[in-house]
Amino acid sequence: MSALLEKIASSQKAALEAMAQANQAQDLEKARVDFLGAKGQLTELTRAVGTLPPEERPQAGQAANVALKAVKAAHQEAVARLAKAQTQKAALDVTLPGRRRPIGHQHLIGRVMTEICEIFERLGFSVVEGPEVETDYYNFEALNFPADHPSRDMQESLFVGDKLLLRTHTSPVQIRTMEQRKPPVWVVAPGKTYRRDDDITHSPMFHQVEGLVVDEGVTMADLKGVLSAFATSFFSPDTAIRLRPSFFPFTEPSAEVDIACVLCGGKGCRLCKGSGWLELLGSGMVDPALYNFVGYDPKKVSGFAFGLGVDRAAMLKYGLSNIRHLYEGDLRFLEQF
Ligand code: DAH
Repeated sequence: MSALLEKIASSQKAALEAMAQANQAQDLEKARVDFLGAKGQLTELTRAVGTLPPEERPQAGQAANVALKAVKAAHQEAVARLAKAQTQKAALDVTLPGRRRPIGHQHLIGRVMTEICEIFERLGFSVVEGPEVETDYYNFEALNFPADHPSRDMQESLFVGDKLLLRTHTSPVQIRTMEQRKPPVWVVAPGKTYRRDDDITHSPMFHQVEGLVVDEGVTMADLKGVLSAFATSFFSPDTAIRLRPSFFPFTEPSAEVDIACVLCGGKGCRLCKGSGWLELLGSGMVDPALYNFVGYDPKKVSGFAFGLGVDRAAMLKYGLSNIRHLYEGDLRFLEQF
Protein backbone atom coordinates (compact mmCIF):
# COMPACT_ATOMS: atom_id res chain seq x y z
CA MET A 1 0.00 0.00 0.00
CA SER A 2 1.35 3.44 -0.88
CA ALA A 3 2.23 5.94 1.81
CA LEU A 4 -0.54 8.23 0.58
CA LEU A 5 -3.17 5.56 1.07
CA GLU A 6 -2.02 5.16 4.66
CA LYS A 7 -2.14 8.88 5.26
CA ILE A 8 -5.67 9.07 3.85
CA ALA A 9 -6.81 6.24 6.11
CA SER A 10 -5.37 7.76 9.28
CA SER A 11 -6.61 11.26 8.44
CA GLN A 12 -10.12 9.82 7.91
CA LYS A 13 -9.94 8.11 11.29
CA ALA A 14 -8.81 11.28 13.05
CA ALA A 15 -11.48 13.36 11.30
CA LEU A 16 -14.29 11.00 12.26
CA GLU A 17 -13.12 11.06 15.87
CA ALA A 18 -12.94 14.85 15.98
CA MET A 19 -16.45 15.16 14.52
CA ALA A 20 -17.88 12.63 16.94
CA GLN A 21 -16.29 14.28 19.94
CA ALA A 22 -17.24 17.88 19.16
CA ASN A 23 -19.73 19.11 21.77
CA GLN A 24 -19.64 22.79 20.87
CA ALA A 25 -20.40 24.41 17.56
CA GLN A 26 -16.97 26.05 17.51
CA ASP A 27 -15.16 22.71 18.07
CA LEU A 28 -17.10 21.17 15.22
CA GLU A 29 -16.31 24.06 12.94
CA LYS A 30 -12.63 23.76 13.80
CA ALA A 31 -12.70 20.04 12.91
CA ARG A 32 -14.39 20.85 9.60
CA VAL A 33 -11.75 23.44 8.72
CA ASP A 34 -8.90 21.19 9.87
CA PHE A 35 -9.93 18.31 7.64
CA LEU A 36 -12.32 19.56 4.95
CA GLY A 37 -11.32 23.23 4.63
CA ALA A 38 -9.50 24.60 1.58
CA LYS A 39 -6.21 23.83 3.34
CA GLY A 40 -7.60 20.95 5.38
CA GLN A 41 -5.71 17.70 5.78
CA LEU A 42 -8.04 15.55 3.69
CA THR A 43 -8.33 18.23 1.02
CA GLU A 44 -4.54 18.37 0.69
CA LEU A 45 -4.26 14.58 0.57
CA THR A 46 -6.91 14.41 -2.15
CA ARG A 47 -4.98 16.99 -4.11
CA ALA A 48 -1.80 14.95 -3.66
CA VAL A 49 -3.40 12.04 -5.54
CA GLY A 50 -2.59 13.91 -8.78
CA THR A 51 1.14 13.73 -7.99
CA LEU A 52 1.20 9.93 -7.84
CA PRO A 53 2.42 7.77 -10.75
CA PRO A 54 -0.56 7.17 -13.08
CA GLU A 55 -0.96 3.50 -12.16
CA GLU A 56 -1.43 4.31 -8.48
CA ARG A 57 -3.94 7.14 -9.00
CA PRO A 58 -7.21 5.19 -9.42
CA GLN A 59 -6.89 3.33 -6.13
CA ALA A 60 -5.73 6.38 -4.17
CA GLY A 61 -8.38 8.57 -5.83
CA GLN A 62 -11.11 6.19 -4.85
CA ALA A 63 -9.84 5.96 -1.26
CA ALA A 64 -9.75 9.76 -1.03
CA ASN A 65 -13.33 10.05 -2.33
CA VAL A 66 -14.60 7.47 0.11
CA ALA A 67 -12.82 9.25 2.97
CA LEU A 68 -14.22 12.68 2.01
CA LYS A 69 -17.74 11.30 1.73
CA ALA A 70 -17.53 9.58 5.14
CA VAL A 71 -16.11 12.65 6.88
CA LYS A 72 -18.71 14.98 5.30
CA ALA A 73 -21.46 12.64 6.44
CA ALA A 74 -20.01 12.58 9.96
CA HIS A 75 -19.94 16.36 9.91
CA GLN A 76 -23.64 16.57 8.93
CA GLU A 77 -24.48 14.14 11.69
CA ALA A 78 -22.59 16.18 14.26
CA VAL A 79 -24.35 19.38 13.14
CA ALA A 80 -27.73 17.70 13.64
CA ARG A 81 -26.66 16.29 17.02
CA LEU A 82 -25.59 19.74 18.34
CA ALA A 83 -28.78 21.41 17.03
CA LYS A 84 -30.91 18.85 18.84
CA ALA A 85 -29.01 19.36 22.11
CA GLN A 86 -29.55 23.11 21.76
CA THR A 87 -33.34 22.83 21.42
CA GLN A 88 -33.50 20.42 24.33
CA LYS A 89 -31.64 22.91 26.48
CA ALA A 90 -34.10 25.69 25.58
CA ALA A 91 -37.12 23.51 26.27
CA LEU A 92 -38.99 23.75 29.59
CA ASP A 93 -37.10 22.25 32.48
CA VAL A 94 -39.64 21.63 35.21
CA THR A 95 -36.92 20.98 37.77
CA LEU A 96 -35.69 24.60 37.61
CA PRO A 97 -36.77 26.92 40.46
CA GLY A 98 -39.57 29.33 39.52
CA ARG A 99 -38.80 32.85 38.36
CA ARG A 100 -39.36 35.26 41.20
CA ARG A 101 -41.05 38.58 40.68
CA PRO A 102 -39.02 41.43 42.15
CA ILE A 103 -40.72 42.50 45.36
CA GLY A 104 -40.41 46.10 46.54
CA HIS A 105 -40.10 47.24 50.11
CA GLN A 106 -41.04 50.20 52.24
CA HIS A 107 -39.33 53.47 51.32
CA LEU A 108 -36.55 54.63 53.64
CA ILE A 109 -38.66 57.56 54.83
CA GLY A 110 -41.59 55.29 55.70
CA ARG A 111 -39.27 52.94 57.55
CA VAL A 112 -37.65 55.74 59.55
CA MET A 113 -41.05 57.25 60.35
CA THR A 114 -42.31 53.87 61.59
CA GLU A 115 -39.16 53.39 63.63
CA ILE A 116 -39.51 56.82 65.24
CA CYS A 117 -43.15 56.19 66.14
CA GLU A 118 -42.31 52.76 67.58
CA ILE A 119 -39.68 54.25 69.86
CA PHE A 120 -42.23 56.72 71.23
CA GLU A 121 -44.89 54.03 71.51
CA ARG A 122 -42.53 52.07 73.75
CA LEU A 123 -42.33 55.21 75.91
CA GLY A 124 -46.13 55.29 76.27
CA PHE A 125 -47.14 57.55 73.37
CA SER A 126 -49.91 56.71 70.91
CA VAL A 127 -49.99 57.66 67.22
CA VAL A 128 -52.49 60.19 65.84
CA GLU A 129 -52.85 61.89 62.46
CA GLY A 130 -54.22 65.08 60.95
CA PRO A 131 -55.01 66.48 57.48
CA GLU A 132 -52.33 67.73 55.07
CA VAL A 133 -54.57 70.52 53.75
CA GLU A 134 -55.03 72.63 56.84
CA THR A 135 -56.86 75.79 57.82
CA ASP A 136 -55.11 78.96 58.89
CA TYR A 137 -56.73 78.45 62.27
CA TYR A 138 -55.03 75.12 63.08
CA ASN A 139 -51.77 75.79 61.25
CA PHE A 140 -51.27 79.24 62.79
CA GLU A 141 -53.91 80.97 64.86
CA ALA A 142 -54.57 78.35 67.55
CA LEU A 143 -50.80 77.78 67.73
CA ASN A 144 -50.44 81.35 68.89
CA PHE A 145 -49.18 82.82 65.62
CA PRO A 146 -51.00 86.17 65.56
CA ALA A 147 -52.40 87.26 62.16
CA ASP A 148 -49.79 89.13 60.05
CA HIS A 149 -47.16 88.37 62.67
CA PRO A 150 -43.55 88.06 61.35
CA SER A 151 -43.24 84.63 62.98
CA ARG A 152 -45.42 83.33 60.11
CA ASP A 153 -42.58 84.18 57.72
CA MET A 154 -40.53 81.34 59.22
CA GLN A 155 -42.98 78.94 57.65
CA GLU A 156 -42.70 79.64 53.87
CA SER A 157 -46.34 78.64 53.41
CA LEU A 158 -47.99 77.19 50.31
CA PHE A 159 -51.59 78.41 50.18
CA VAL A 160 -54.28 76.52 48.26
CA GLY A 161 -57.09 78.98 49.03
CA ASP A 162 -58.08 81.80 51.27
CA LYS A 163 -57.15 80.67 54.80
CA LEU A 164 -56.42 77.18 53.45
CA LEU A 165 -52.89 75.89 53.04
CA LEU A 166 -50.71 72.80 52.84
CA ARG A 167 -49.70 72.41 56.45
CA THR A 168 -46.24 73.82 57.07
CA HIS A 169 -45.67 71.59 60.09
CA THR A 170 -47.37 68.81 62.05
CA SER A 171 -47.99 71.12 65.01
CA PRO A 172 -51.68 71.70 64.05
CA VAL A 173 -52.26 68.09 65.09
CA GLN A 174 -51.49 69.27 68.65
CA ILE A 175 -54.59 71.48 68.58
CA ARG A 176 -56.80 68.89 66.86
CA THR A 177 -55.77 66.27 69.42
CA MET A 178 -56.36 68.51 72.44
CA GLU A 179 -59.80 69.42 71.07
CA GLN A 180 -60.69 65.75 70.98
CA ARG A 181 -59.03 64.39 74.11
CA LYS A 182 -58.86 65.33 77.77
CA PRO A 183 -55.47 65.14 79.54
CA PRO A 184 -53.39 63.05 80.01
CA VAL A 185 -52.29 63.30 76.38
CA TRP A 186 -49.19 61.46 75.16
CA VAL A 187 -49.22 61.42 71.38
CA VAL A 188 -46.95 61.50 68.34
CA ALA A 189 -48.25 62.66 64.96
CA PRO A 190 -46.26 61.58 61.88
CA GLY A 191 -46.97 63.00 58.44
CA LYS A 192 -46.15 65.03 55.35
CA THR A 193 -45.50 68.76 55.57
CA TYR A 194 -44.97 71.43 52.89
CA ARG A 195 -42.96 74.62 52.47
CA ARG A 196 -41.63 76.90 49.76
CA ASP A 197 -38.12 75.60 50.18
CA ASP A 198 -35.86 73.62 47.85
CA ASP A 199 -32.12 72.97 48.18
CA ILE A 200 -29.81 70.08 49.04
CA THR A 201 -31.17 69.81 52.58
CA HIS A 202 -34.75 71.03 51.96
CA SER A 203 -37.54 69.57 49.87
CA PRO A 204 -40.90 71.34 49.31
CA MET A 205 -42.57 68.19 50.66
CA PHE A 206 -40.95 66.71 53.72
CA HIS A 207 -41.91 64.76 56.82
CA GLN A 208 -42.24 65.51 60.50
CA VAL A 209 -43.14 63.66 63.62
CA GLU A 210 -44.85 65.89 66.15
CA GLY A 211 -44.90 65.01 69.83
CA LEU A 212 -47.25 66.31 72.51
CA VAL A 213 -47.47 65.53 76.19
CA VAL A 214 -49.99 67.26 78.44
CA ASP A 215 -50.40 65.88 81.92
CA GLU A 216 -50.22 66.95 85.55
CA GLY A 217 -46.83 68.19 86.75
CA VAL A 218 -44.97 67.83 83.43
CA THR A 219 -41.67 69.73 83.45
CA MET A 220 -38.76 70.49 81.18
CA ALA A 221 -36.92 67.58 82.81
CA ASP A 222 -39.53 65.24 81.31
CA LEU A 223 -38.94 66.81 77.90
CA LYS A 224 -35.21 66.26 78.18
CA GLY A 225 -35.60 62.71 79.52
CA VAL A 226 -37.98 61.64 76.75
CA LEU A 227 -35.91 63.20 73.95
CA SER A 228 -32.69 61.79 75.34
CA ALA A 229 -34.29 58.32 75.44
CA PHE A 230 -35.35 58.84 71.84
CA ALA A 231 -31.89 59.97 70.67
CA THR A 232 -30.08 57.02 72.27
CA SER A 233 -32.61 54.61 70.84
CA PHE A 234 -32.70 56.05 67.32
CA PHE A 235 -29.03 56.90 66.83
CA SER A 236 -26.69 55.05 69.20
CA PRO A 237 -26.80 54.22 72.91
CA ASP A 238 -24.19 56.86 73.79
CA THR A 239 -25.75 59.77 71.85
CA ALA A 240 -25.72 62.90 74.01
CA ILE A 241 -28.24 65.71 73.58
CA ARG A 242 -28.20 69.36 74.57
CA LEU A 243 -30.95 71.99 74.77
CA ARG A 244 -30.41 75.45 73.29
CA PRO A 245 -32.76 78.40 73.90
CA SER A 246 -34.96 79.14 70.89
CA PHE A 247 -38.30 80.61 69.93
CA PHE A 248 -41.57 79.11 68.71
CA PRO A 249 -44.92 80.89 69.10
CA PHE A 250 -46.55 77.80 70.62
CA THR A 251 -43.93 76.94 73.25
CA GLU A 252 -42.56 78.90 76.19
CA PRO A 253 -39.78 78.41 76.93
CA SER A 254 -38.63 76.93 73.62
CA ALA A 255 -35.54 74.85 73.00
CA GLU A 256 -33.70 73.57 69.99
CA VAL A 257 -32.46 70.05 70.71
CA ASP A 258 -29.03 69.11 69.34
CA ILE A 259 -27.39 65.70 69.30
CA ALA A 260 -23.68 65.07 69.60
CA CYS A 261 -22.35 64.88 66.02
CA VAL A 262 -23.01 61.46 64.52
CA LEU A 263 -19.74 61.64 62.59
CA CYS A 264 -17.16 62.87 65.11
CA GLY A 265 -19.01 62.17 68.37
CA GLY A 266 -18.56 65.78 69.52
CA LYS A 267 -14.93 66.51 68.72
CA GLY A 268 -15.82 68.81 65.84
CA CYS A 269 -15.69 68.01 62.13
CA ARG A 270 -16.93 69.20 58.74
CA LEU A 271 -20.46 67.84 59.24
CA CYS A 272 -21.02 69.73 62.52
CA LYS A 273 -18.96 72.69 61.27
CA GLY A 274 -16.57 72.23 64.16
CA SER A 275 -19.21 72.66 66.87
CA GLY A 276 -19.54 68.99 67.82
CA TRP A 277 -23.36 69.28 67.73
CA LEU A 278 -26.08 68.79 65.14
CA GLU A 279 -29.49 70.40 65.24
CA LEU A 280 -32.17 67.71 65.50
CA LEU A 281 -35.54 69.17 66.47
CA GLY A 282 -37.55 72.03 67.93
CA SER A 283 -39.27 71.67 71.27
CA GLY A 284 -40.50 73.46 74.33
CA MET A 285 -43.06 73.67 77.10
CA VAL A 286 -46.56 74.08 75.65
CA ASP A 287 -47.43 77.78 75.81
CA PRO A 288 -50.43 78.07 78.18
CA ALA A 289 -52.02 80.37 75.58
CA LEU A 290 -52.81 77.22 73.57
CA TYR A 291 -54.87 75.78 76.43
CA ASN A 292 -57.34 78.67 76.05
CA PHE A 293 -58.05 77.56 72.46
CA VAL A 294 -58.85 73.97 73.49
CA GLY A 295 -60.47 74.43 76.89
CA TYR A 296 -57.70 72.94 79.06
CA ASP A 297 -57.07 74.46 82.52
CA PRO A 298 -53.48 75.84 82.59
CA LYS A 299 -53.55 75.72 86.40
CA LYS A 300 -54.10 71.96 86.39
CA VAL A 301 -51.94 70.72 83.52
CA SER A 302 -48.66 71.45 81.83
CA GLY A 303 -46.94 69.89 78.88
CA PHE A 304 -44.17 69.77 76.37
CA ALA A 305 -44.08 69.40 72.62
CA PHE A 306 -41.53 68.71 69.95
CA GLY A 307 -41.31 68.57 66.18
CA LEU A 308 -38.80 66.31 64.51
CA GLY A 309 -37.76 66.48 60.86
CA VAL A 310 -37.89 62.89 59.62
CA ASP A 311 -35.91 63.54 56.41
CA ARG A 312 -33.17 65.24 58.38
CA ALA A 313 -33.10 62.45 60.96
CA ALA A 314 -32.82 59.86 58.16
CA MET A 315 -30.03 61.85 56.49
CA LEU A 316 -28.08 62.04 59.74
CA LYS A 317 -28.62 58.39 60.58
CA TYR A 318 -27.63 57.10 57.13
CA GLY A 319 -25.06 59.77 56.23
CA LEU A 320 -26.92 61.19 53.21
CA SER A 321 -25.63 64.50 51.88
CA ASN A 322 -28.49 65.35 49.52
CA ILE A 323 -32.18 65.19 50.44
CA ARG A 324 -33.03 64.61 46.76
CA HIS A 325 -31.76 61.03 47.01
CA LEU A 326 -34.89 60.40 49.05
CA TYR A 327 -37.24 61.62 46.33
CA GLU A 328 -35.68 60.69 42.99
CA GLY A 329 -36.87 57.09 43.13
CA ASP A 330 -33.51 55.72 41.91
CA LEU A 331 -33.65 51.98 42.67
CA ARG A 332 -29.86 51.79 43.03
CA PHE A 333 -30.26 54.10 46.03
CA LEU A 334 -33.52 52.75 47.39
CA GLU A 335 -32.50 49.09 47.29
CA GLN A 336 -29.70 49.77 49.76
CA PHE A 337 -32.20 50.15 52.57
N1 DAH B 1 -43.40 73.15 64.19
C1 DAH B 1 -42.02 73.54 64.28
C2 DAH B 1 -41.45 73.68 62.88
O1 DAH B 1 -41.85 72.99 62.01
C3 DAH B 1 -41.22 72.51 65.03
C4 DAH B 1 -41.61 72.49 66.46
C5 DAH B 1 -40.92 73.29 67.35
C6 DAH B 1 -42.61 71.66 66.91
C7 DAH B 1 -41.25 73.25 68.69
C8 DAH B 1 -42.94 71.63 68.24
C9 DAH B 1 -42.23 72.44 69.13
O2 DAH B 1 -43.92 70.86 68.73
O3 DAH B 1 -42.55 72.39 70.44
O4 DAH B 1 -40.60 74.49 62.67
